[in-house]
Amino acid sequence: MSNCKVIALTNQKGGVGKTTTAVNLGVALAQQGKKVLLIDADAQANLTMSLGYSRPDDLPDTLSTIMQDIIDDKPVDVSKSILHHDEGVDLLPSNIELSGLEVRLINAISRESVLKTCINEVKKNYDTVLVDCMPSLGMLTINALAAADSVVIPTQPHYLSAKGLELLLRSVSKVKRQINPHLRIDGILMTMVMPRTNISKEITATVKSAYGQRIKVFDTQIPHSMGYRVTEDVV
Ligand SMILES: Nc1ncnc2c1ncn2[C@@H]1O[C@H](COP(=O)(O)OP(=O)(O)O)[C@@H](O)[C@H]1O
Ligand SMILES: [Mg+2]
Repeated sequence: MSNCKVIALTNQKGGVGKTTTAVNLGVALAQQGKKVLLIDADAQANLTMSLGYSRPDDLPDTLSTIMQDIIDDKPVDVSKSILHHDEGVDLLPSNIELSGLEVRLINAISRESVLKTCINEVKKNYDTVLVDCMPSLGMLTINALAAADSVVIPTQPHYLSAKGLELLLRSVSKVKRQINPHLRIDGILMTMVMPRTNISKEITATVKSAYGQRIKVFDTQIPHSMGYRVTEDVV
């Protein structure tokens, strides 16, 4: 599909809801009739496992095998590695081999655009491609930013560090200047919000006043799934 949108879910902090956002956003879009590809760009393979592939290291074809073939200038068939899930989403899985690939990328020609080459092979089949990034600003995340049309930054309110966000924004700006001029930041998505607590409201207000001029902070927030119970238990 010619107007396929590639969105990178990025935050170098782990445990902030990137993978959960990828799964839920992907399945929700699929339920609306969109063709969705989820790409697991994290060697921890949480996205792959959360879609039910409990032994990712046994998968013969993954993102790392494809990226290695692209680095080696071999012909690739990306669609061969794509798994079709019952929830209506497709998945390009990963496993632990991706951690070795990150090191090999450093000496590769066009090292920032290997993932883009991979996505370009299959983009025509999808409305949306969601890239679930690893918690770092290393080569794989740079590849995701180079391949993306836009970035969503999931963050837990109390984990939002100003320094972490500045570093992330700097990487986005650098990729935009040097590799991918069309890259946009869609916004900051607050996750695991305890809805009725003052602290969540205060942090959200602080984030909006600190960054709201430069970056959208989505009004939609993802509540902590235990949030209501926890607050009711406390009150
Ligand atoms: N809205 C939510 N409510 C409760 N738990 C959540 C929610 N979102 C994510 N989690 C849990 O928080 C942990 C980290 O989320 P995850 O999406 O894996 O983060 P990341 O990909 O940024 O490392 C996981 O155990 C996940 O199940
Ligand atoms: Mg994750």
